Amino acid sequence: MNSLWSDNVQGIFTLYLSRKLRFDDMFFKQYRKLFDLDQDKELKILEIGCGPGALAESLHRWYPKAHITGIDRDTKFIEFAKDMVPDITFVEGDATDLPFADNIFDVTISNTVQEHIEPSAFWGEQRRVLKPGGVCLCLSTRKNIKCYADCLATTDAETEFWSNRPNDQDETEKYQVCRFPMSEAEIPASMEKHGFVNVSTGYAIIDLTPDDPKYPAPMAEAMIEADRQCALEAIRLTHSENAESVLSAVNSKFDKRIRLYRAGIKQWDTTTTVIMVIRGVK
Ligand SMILES: C[S@@+](CC[C@H](N)C(=O)[O-])C[C@H]1O[C@@H](n2cnc3c(N)ncnc32)[C@H](O)[C@@H]1O
Repeated sequence: MNSLWSDNVQGIFTLYLSRKLRFDDMFFKQYRKLFDLDQDKELKILEIGCGPGALAESLHRWYPKAHITGIDRDTKFIEFAKDMVPDITFVEGDATDLPFADNIFDVTISNTVQEHIEPSAFWGEQRRVLKPGGVCLCLSTRKNIKCYADCLATTDAETEFWSNRPNDQDETEKYQVCRFPMSEAEIPASMEKHGFVNVSTGYAIIDLTPDDPKYPAPMAEAMIEADRQCALEAIRLTHSENAESVLSAVNSKFDKRIRLYRAGIKQWDTTTTVIMVIRGVK
């Protein structure tokens, strides 16, 4: 049982809810162009570091003829993904030693995984399992515009709680997070260095602004709830015994944000993310 990531770095709901929004059908038009895959083919797609499975779930809707497999080394993510999306094969395993034969997948894809895995193993294993002519898609979160509603400002309870926690640097060392960060220029160069050809890059812009009327109410509220669960899970992942008052403060401010949304009192807070898609061919 390996649950180092889900117990300490990012929880199941932090990843699942935020990615469900990031890979909502509303944004498929942008991804379809950048992925450049044949929707009518019975593609064999492997998602590397699939976490709790939200991207795999979207791929299943977007490419209904495809056979999708997700792999992650975190047991809890894989158990959750299997329950949520029974039509997809989810496997617990290591991206640096993929439990698959050579030349069997048409597509490999990953979202925010490249920066955590040593490049020659990350690209090398994907290249090994891809068929000749197969496509490797690497998705990487770049810039973020994060603007909070006043009612979601950090509370005194949160300030006090977080001032007693170790800093991010400790976490990076301890759980081996983000040991291989690369710039927008370095990722495609690294892909080419590891044998991929016809490498191209592009960017999707994922605008999550609950008050914008283009979003139906369930999606707008899902944006607020995703942020709430992310804030609550971050506190729970500290495994602190005295977290009740800070959890309650966080819940109160998000309850208020929902009330304002329902009353039509606009805050115009936003989480807008630029996602880089790097595409290469074996
Ligand atoms: C930032 S999370 C992204 C998860 C998922 N792609 C998403 O967007 O929700 C990074 C993921 O990579 C997984 N991971 C890191 N190193 C791995 C490895 N060597 N083999 C398999 N999975 C790995 C972690 O368990 C975690 O689920």
